[in-house]
Amino acid sequence: MHHLTQVSAASYSTFALPAVLADLYQCDSLSELAQLDLPHCPYVLGEGSNTIFLQDMAQPVLRYLAAEKQVRRADDGSILLHIDAGYNWHQLVQWTVAQGWWGLENLALIPGSVGAAPVQNIGAYGVELADCCDYVDFFDWQQKSVRRLNKADCRFGYRDSIFKTELAGRGLIVAVGLKLQSQGRAVTGYKGLELLTAESSVSQVMQAVIAVRQSKLPDPAQLANCGSFFKNPVLSPQDFARLKQQYPAVPAYPQADGQVKVAAGWLMEQAGFKGKGIGDIACYEKQALVLVNRGRGTATELTQLVSVIQHQVQQQFAVWLEPEVRLMGL
Ligand code: EPU
Repeated sequence: MHHLTQVSAASYSTFALPAVLADLYQCDSLSELAQLDLPHCPYVLGEGSNTIFLQDMAQPVLRYLAAEKQVRRADDGSILLHIDAGYNWHQLVQWTVAQGWWGLENLALIPGSVGAAPVQNIGAYGVELADCCDYVDFFDWQQKSVRRLNKADCRFGYRDSIFKTELAGRGLIVAVGLKLQSQGRAVTGYKGLELLTAESSVSQVMQAVIAVRQSKLPDPAQLANCGSFFKNPVLSPQDFARLKQQYPAVPAYPQADGQVKVAAGWLMEQAGFKGKGIGDIACYEKQALVLVNRGRGTATELTQLVSVIQHQVQQQFAVWLEPEVRLMGL
């Protein structure tokens, strides 16, 4: 176990705002976790691709770095993976695709760790983690023991799960169980993936997803960002009908429950924010929904820009945008 003090948060969040973490604990095993003598669960950080530190953190921060994986075959031929939370998500996707297994290919190139994936139920190009999640192992801070939640227990929703609600602050994900298939068909519904066919190989799907992502989304290693900054708002049928009447071109995705998800990036572009910003914080030129830090951005610039975007979009479309990233210190 490593205990670091007074470390720069910029190295631990891909948005790279300046802030100081008073105490950073890094554990490599469950036994190290169990020995950590802190009364409350620290703030749990993965690879920092969805957390932005707006100010110095007095609260301890914890990273769980165990990164082993185990593979089993189920009786029905599916592949059961048990992966420690510290494993890098994209490396896992690449490895499963290299084995010829189906399930994770549309989720290629998403930054972050395996343990972070269930928290916001990561999703892209018509697939989300919930589609192949079997279970999640959660270390309960007070009990000092691991409990297994099956998929239904995780209450996955759009960028949502029990780990953001009831279990928030009560412990951390230490491993994830995934169920993959040795045979599959490409999920090609997303525009940009139309060159794929039902015969495309799992590797061709992954390459196509990587190409689409690279054409729209900035690489955090080149330009600091945390992916989509806001969630796509989900509107009631009435609110959507009103919006659609005024703006017939609004990209919309009907949900199973009758509500309609609309593209926040489109609303932001229509409101004039694409490529615009305050100081060094801006909406990315190729995807307005992604806020970027061009180098010397500050928390004040970010919170000002967020507020301006929220109020202007609300004024123009009567829709309130909620952050998708975790803002610490707001
Ligand atoms: N659009 C614009 N202008 C923009 C951005 C988008 O008009 O500046 C339009 C696009 O043309 C498209 C629609 O809005 O018609 C949706 O855009 P896009 O396909 O780029 O996806 P998104 O809804 O903005 C979501 C996820 C992404 C995920 C993509 C692909 C959320 C918050 N974001 O973005 O996930 O990669 O779909 O499935 O749900 C993330 O969560 O960090 C993330 C990157």
